[in-house]
Amino acid sequence: MAIIYLYGPPASGKTTLGRRLAEALSWDFTDLDAEIVAHEGREIKDIFAKDGEKAFRLMEGEALARVTLNAKTSTVIALGGGTLLDDANRAFASEKGKIWCLDTPSKEEVARRIAAGGDTRPLGDMSAARAAHYASFPSRVAASFYLPGSLVVVGCALGDPRDFAPLVIADSTAASLHGVGGEKVFTIPSGEERKNLETVASIWRAFHSRGIGRRDMVAAFGGGVTGDLTGFAAATWMRGVPWINFPTTLLSMVDASTGGKTGCDLPEGKNLVGAFHAPRLVVIDSSRLSTLPARELRGGRAEMIKHDIIAGRDNGLANPIPSPIEIADNLSVKVGIVREDPFERTGRRILLNCGHTVGHALEIATGFAVSHGEAVAIGCVEEARLAVRLGLASAEWPERLAARFADAGLPTALPEGFTFDSLAPLMRGDKKRYGSSVTFALPCGPGDVRPIPCQL
Ligand SMILES: NC(=O)c1ccc[n+]([C@@H]2O[C@H](COP(=O)([O-])OP(=O)(O)OC[C@H]3O[C@@H](n4cnc5c(N)ncnc54)[C@H](O)[C@@H]3O)[C@@H](O)[C@H]2O)c1
Ligand SMILES: [Zn+2]
Repeated sequence: MAIIYLYGPPASGKTTLGRRLAEALSWDFTDLDAEIVAHEGREIKDIFAKDGEKAFRLMEGEALARVTLNAKTSTVIALGGGTLLDDANRAFASEKGKIWCLDTPSKEEVARRIAAGGDTRPLGDMSAARAAHYASFPSRVAASFYLPGSLVVVGCALGDPRDFAPLVIADSTAASLHGVGGEKVFTIPSGEERKNLETVASIWRAFHSRGIGRRDMVAAFGGGVTGDLTGFAAATWMRGVPWINFPTTLLSMVDASTGGKTGCDLPEGKNLVGAFHAPRLVVIDSSRLSTLPARELRGGRAEMIKHDIIAGRDNGLANPIPSPIEIADNLSVKVGIVREDPFERTGRRILLNCGHTVGHALEIATGFAVSHGEAVAIGCVEEARLAVRLGLASAEWPERLAARFADAGLPTALPEGFTFDSLAPLMRGDKKRYGSSVTFALPCGPGDVRPIPCQL
């Protein structure tokens, strides 16, 4: 049994997130303020007005102990904005569960939520001392996104996947680096070469031996390979069991973990077998990136720059390891597109394929010596050149794009011996092909990526 306490400033969204988190996890949910109101039979503002803050804090401490000790199953508890100012309350909550502190929303956001009737607690003093108090909690939630059927939480130090599911399918490298092992963990070998049906079958067998049934949750801990394989095994096990994804690579945080696609490779091609089966919950914990090799970080950067191109942003590179806010900001581009086209039916999602038509061909042509992220960087620049040739982009645009990828340490030119034309046969084999033409998601300018069918 596990408890997550959601804490943070007034109007930071504790109750809304708490409800969604509990729903995603099939856990119980308790709102501490609502518990106090029900127990006392009056509104919190009336308790403050009549008995004063000190009396209210006493009632709050008692309520905290009551709801924690009475919890019969795993529970999310949304606390009040000052519940853990009291040292004894803080020590109690730290011992009984995991405290996630929500980052302070902007002033405008606070005003909007209060205007929308979201918070009934008197705001109190939001002085620097309060800010330091909130900042002293190590587990932080920077942002969350809600997609129908799927909740995405972005933060740092968000906890151990073993607390969320009876079985965790873990990438062997990530698991050993982050100490995720033991009985609840089934490790799978690292690497795209093992993203195949044999590994899926080994995961099904792990489900079987652990007695995983329709109501059980399973979790994935690893990069895009682990997420795709676990999601696919979950989609097909007993016709679908729910799953949670803990992505551990930058690429899987900003790209692979959101969008609902799961699957595996066949010797005939990548991702040929798969299903849409979105995880109920995605927990993006930036502290996992501390062990990620530089080349993998750069690969994730390539997809981040692709999102920036789609959205017409130029965020530059503030930190080698992006912060939760940077990750959330970038991920919001993909989330926005997925919301509009969850099952890739309207064509909107094709925008996410920017740089990938050339990129995939280059990966195959080089026998995957050029990594996916490197191929996407080169692919974006080559596709921008195609846009210039078609009269859709200005002459200097490909060089501007190239400079952005080069800043992130990514290659921007085709390796020796390859040209756009020499890759054309492989591009024609691209699975996004309709009839005899290939539809590119062509980067034509900042914020201007267009689906363009081309005869190659
Ligand atoms: N489902 C989707 O929508 C979608 C989107 C994009 C990509 N993908 C898939 O994602 C895969 C690529 O994802 P990826 O780049 O995460 O690859 P990956 O899962 O192979 O991980 C890359 C490497 O990093 C290691 N690793 C993982 N976490 C680590 C950590 N915290 N510290 C150190 N090492 C760590 C892994 O062992 C592996 O060697 C591809 O198979 C691709 O098809 C899926
Ligand atoms: Zn990609």
